[in-house]
Amino acid sequence: MKYLSYRLQKNHDEAFVENVRVSEIAKSVGTPFYCYSKKSLVENFQNFVTAFESEKISDYKICYAIKANFNLHLVKILSGLGAGVDAVSAGEVFRAIKAEIKPEKIVFAGVGKTKSEMEFALKNGVEEFSVESIAEIFLLNEVAISLNKKAKFSLRVNPNVDAKTHDKISTGRKGDKFGVDIELAEEIYDKAAKLAGLEIYGIAMHIGSQINSLEPFEIAFKKLRDLCLKLRQNGHKISALDFGGGIGILYKNENTLLIESYVKLIKEITVDLNVKITIAPGRAMVGNVGILVTSTIFLKETSTKNFVIIDAAMNDLMRPGLYDSYHQVLPAIIKSGPKATYDLVGPVCESTDFLARDRELVDPKAGDLFILAGAGAYGSSMSNEYNCRPMIPEVLVDGDKFTIIRRRPTFEEMLHLEVI
Ligand SMILES: Cc1ncc(COP(=O)(O)O)c(C=O)c1O
Repeated sequence: MKYLSYRLQKNHDEAFVENVRVSEIAKSVGTPFYCYSKKSLVENFQNFVTAFESEKISDYKICYAIKANFNLHLVKILSGLGAGVDAVSAGEVFRAIKAEIKPEKIVFAGVGKTKSEMEFALKNGVEEFSVESIAEIFLLNEVAISLNKKAKFSLRVNPNVDAKTHDKISTGRKGDKFGVDIELAEEIYDKAAKLAGLEIYGIAMHIGSQINSLEPFEIAFKKLRDLCLKLRQNGHKISALDFGGGIGILYKNENTLLIESYVKLIKEITVDLNVKITIAPGRAMVGNVGILVTSTIFLKETSTKNFVIIDAAMNDLMRPGLYDSYHQVLPAIIKSGPKATYDLVGPVCESTDFLARDRELVDPKAGDLFILAGAGAYGSSMSNEYNCRPMIPEVLVDGDKFTIIRRRPTFEEMLHLEVI
């Protein structure tokens, strides 16, 4: 893992994030917590920039899909590097602006924007909407007219391409709730062209997440290109293409695709189109930037299974329970001893509360610290307070220093919004 300097020395090995020992942070902050590496975040963003520069693409926007991790501090780092944001709720728009993302670099996407969310975005200077249905187009038009504005829109099309990823994170097949059937797009643009509150801006798509091969992107992007040409023939001004996110990361032993190949493909698709390019990576920006650190409460050995009961649970990291997803488990301090196979489970009262299954661990004991790798995306952002468990802290390491960038709330604070 590139964010973890993990040295192998007999009996004394320890995990580091950048130059800080994970065990040192755990001692100071208490477990469980998320820990991010600033260096990895910056590198991930720069990798995209470098790929666009090598392809000599200049008119592009990297709109970070803030849903992957909305921590203000992290988003502010990305904003400082020039990122935009792909937001899917007024709350995400608000956060992006708080993190100093320029409103003109925010794309408001999402399948069910409400009238008040549209108003909020337009009043706050968001210009670009990715719309997902004909009903949404009419509503956006009304809202824009009522505010005396014009909303720029791209229609998110559903290209009917199987991204060959987990069923629950596929979004571009017929029958998925996202986007509009690509075959209906021409008719919709013709209708939208007559609406006074709207300006046709581009076309958008997003076919799914954790995609590890170029093939589905290639099929889908070609369809986007064909549609762009058709719409232009029909007299519409298509200035931009939004290719969405979806690039996979390494969780287990996947053959992940290279950012350079992905951007090269975009170049091939758009070479003669003279369009602005938007991409909206989430997972590929933050997934490998973060780990979840947890400590062992008890061991439970049964006739059929061995359990390591840890202090992190499904409310802190939902992905395994939700999608059966895999996170590598690493000891924060390496030891030697007998190996056995264990499930890592949390204290929450649900059978879906497991963070890892059937992992070979070396002589685990109460108090041992474990790391769940690749937890930077869809980890803290999907977490919740189920079982009245406080949201866990987030820590950012920068070189030799670490900073708590979201602290653990007190029990009293967890009651603040309620009325007795
Ligand atoms: C419209 C849109 N764009 C981008 C993303 C980011 O996807 P990923 O994290 O796989 O890059 C999503 C994720 O659901 C999305 O819905």
